[in-house]
Amino acid sequence: MKRFWERVAKSTEPLIQRVPGVRQKLEAEYAAVESLAREQIQKAVADLPAFTELPETGVEESQILSWLEQLREREKPAWEQGRVSGTVYHGGAEHSAFLSRVYALHSQSNPLHADLFPSTIHFEAEIVKMTARLLNGDPSHPDPQQQVVGTVTSGGTESILLAMKTYRDWARAEKGITEPEVIAPETAHPAFDKAAHLFCIKLIRTPVRDDFKADVEAMHRAITRRTIALVASAGTFPHGVVDPIPQIAQLAHEYGLGMHVDGCLGGFILPFIEALGYPVTPFDFRVQGVTSISVDPHKYGYTPKGVSVILYRGRALRRYQYFTATDWPGGLYASPTLPGSRPGALSVGAWAAMVRFGRQGYLEIARQIMETALAIRKGIEAMPDLRLMGEPLFLIAFTSERLNIYQVWEQMAQRGWRLNALQKPPGVHIAITVRHTQPGVAEQFLKDLHDSVEFVKANPKAEGKLAPIYGMANSLPFRGVIDEVLRHYLDALYD
Ligand SMILES: Cc1ncc(COP(=O)(O)O)c(C=O)c1O
Repeated sequence: MKRFWERVAKSTEPLIQRVPGVRQKLEAEYAAVESLAREQIQKAVADLPAFTELPETGVEESQILSWLEQLREREKPAWEQGRVSGTVYHGGAEHSAFLSRVYALHSQSNPLHADLFPSTIHFEAEIVKMTARLLNGDPSHPDPQQQVVGTVTSGGTESILLAMKTYRDWARAEKGITEPEVIAPETAHPAFDKAAHLFCIKLIRTPVRDDFKADVEAMHRAITRRTIALVASAGTFPHGVVDPIPQIAQLAHEYGLGMHVDGCLGGFILPFIEALGYPVTPFDFRVQGVTSISVDPHKYGYTPKGVSVILYRGRALRRYQYFTATDWPGGLYASPTLPGSRPGALSVGAWAAMVRFGRQGYLEIARQIMETALAIRKGIEAMPDLRLMGEPLFLIAFTSERLNIYQVWEQMAQRGWRLNALQKPPGVHIAITVRHTQPGVAEQFLKDLHDSVEFVKANPKAEGKLAPIYGMANSLPFRGVIDEVLRHYLDALYD
């Protein structure tokens, strides 16, 4: 039934958007979103002078530093006090100061020039090897096709883009597939849509089951002779669950397909959660059939932002990721990832963070995160108006059958919490970080959540600013309208 209405909506949307009354209403909605975005930014920087062109003469360093310090003091409390889902995964003062010192030491480094900055490349190679071992891959396996190798990238999105480009080029060269398809559960990150868009791959989204994990049968049914790879997450961004990776990998193996595990979010914490004795679905290179994993040290690896790793089983596969230009008048050009020049200091920072914590350090942090997550989970379970979504580990998603969950989300925002709103179906999540393990944070979260629920029960008609936008986005079949809303939002951010 839903599919039928979706088809009707798709075919009538362009017409409906041209009806004068409808168009005016939409314009008003777009303007409201734009002003919300502008208000958000402008309020934050209101006392900063505006530079819309280069100042004629330079500004004193001390003045610039003073502006930046003021802004930092304003922006810091929300994340530092543990009021934010995910985003700043460590943020401890001492660790941040250490990373800043490391950055300062290598601020000029650019790994594009390996001859000038050999140490950065050395550190990147070690980041890849340490991450491969963490995920039970063997970087020095005697069989090159079993070696787990990879590269450092700028973030989860780039790692995913590269994996998809790699499978496209691999399938074209080795199987002659020119109209490639990738199958991903609908919960997999939008970076897969971005990759499909950029690299001319058709992305087939398959449904998830009631526990929000991939439906393996649906993925099986979606396989065609054009399929190049299957995708699964460990864990998913919306609900933090680990897809049934052994079964999906088995399918990939049977059909000779690539199998990418998106471990961007969970890849650096799940191994430690498993070591602590919690049940974790196998997701790493121990699983036969898994051919690549993206994993983000810049999340639960507590490294500077801008560092991710893409790993492949087999040296041959990684070759398809590389780019070379042999005939350019500027010289011979070889680049392993998407950018050309790269901020080497971030890689050095990542190496330093990984070596600083070591296995024991990460294990101890994971223990604290899991204890906090468990306390929050239990508190939510005790609230009859809320319901957990899936089986939470380090990320807790919840919804409500009785209340508008977006209103609860908005009430939490009014109490200083920045949680993530989910859709299809509506929900809210909090990814637990080191910030939430501070004394009193979990208790305050549960108290504010309780108060928010009570407020919404007492004021079910209270219209906030954001809840209606999310409510509309979740229910409106006209996705082109939502797309336009998002584009207006982006425009407004840069105005
Ligand atoms: C599961 C998952 N994959 C990919 C990404 C994309 O990572 P990034 O924002 O570093 O590009 C995220 C980000 O939250 C994620 O949670």
